[in-house]
Amino acid sequence: MARNKEEIRTTFQVEEVAREYDKTRGFEDEKTSLLHLSELMVIKDALRGIQGPVLELAVGTGRLYRNLCTLCSPYVAIDFSLPMLQETRSHLKDLNSTPTLLRGDAFSLPFRDGSFSAALSFRFIMMFSQEDRARIYRELKRVLRYQGMLIFDYRILRPKEKERTEHAFEKLTLSQLRDEIGKNGFTLKRISGNRFGTHHLFPKLLRQSRLLNQAISWLDVRVLNRFPFLLKRCRGGVAICQKR
Ligand SMILES: C[S@@+](CC[C@H](N)C(=O)[O-])C[C@H]1O[C@@H](n2cnc3c(N)ncnc32)[C@H](O)[C@@H]1O
Repeated sequence: MARNKEEIRTTFQVEEVAREYDKTRGFEDEKTSLLHLSELMVIKDALRGIQGPVLELAVGTGRLYRNLCTLCSPYVAIDFSLPMLQETRSHLKDLNSTPTLLRGDAFSLPFRDGSFSAALSFRFIMMFSQEDRARIYRELKRVLRYQGMLIFDYRILRPKEKERTEHAFEKLTLSQLRDEIGKNGFTLKRISGNRFGTHHLFPKLLRQSRLLNQAISWLDVRVLNRFPFLLKRCRGGVAICQKR
């Protein structure tokens, strides 16, 4: 269920929430988190060839940032929560680059118009109500250059699913998603489904294997996504959009 923006801000100000975030969301071992691996694969594909600054909005503990900040330069990451930023910072010593980490609010981004060639934001936009999402898109649109790229994740409201309320993220059908993106000044260029449920085909014990998870994310991203009818059936995915 979409929550109000104050509540969302407050939740992540708690140090314990920041400390436990990766563990409780299954991101602790990045190499075996299927969702993380497939998101990363799609983002890397989308950012290939992007010239100019990239913004990550609501960087959290930096699970994507750690893997992307050396690929794009400059890479600027922003989050409202100091404890979350501290978590991100704690991983920086393992990196060779020194990307920019800032505290700031999605509803009033501290950047000039047209500052970025691409922006990405995960596990964030769909937490908000439709009205607040419109405000966030407006800010992202403002700080992106003409034809800049916006990449974010969504949750699908599947054909037989009626219940929307007991979920931290708002679920949309694919046509609602396309409408929302269009109404907010972007063109949906491509979607890439994830959570096809492929891992259920393997015994639980094997699902801890890094190699298997890498193979499954490859299968999901590069093969299953070629079949449009499957996109409606998976639980979510990544939208790649362009500013109009
Ligand atoms: C669910 S976490 C997502 C973290 C990360 N993007 C990921 O994919 O794991 C949501 C993040 O949004 C941040 N946040 C909440 N409200 C915000 C706001 N108004 N502006 C910027 N960041 C905000 C929180 O501090 C938290 O780090």
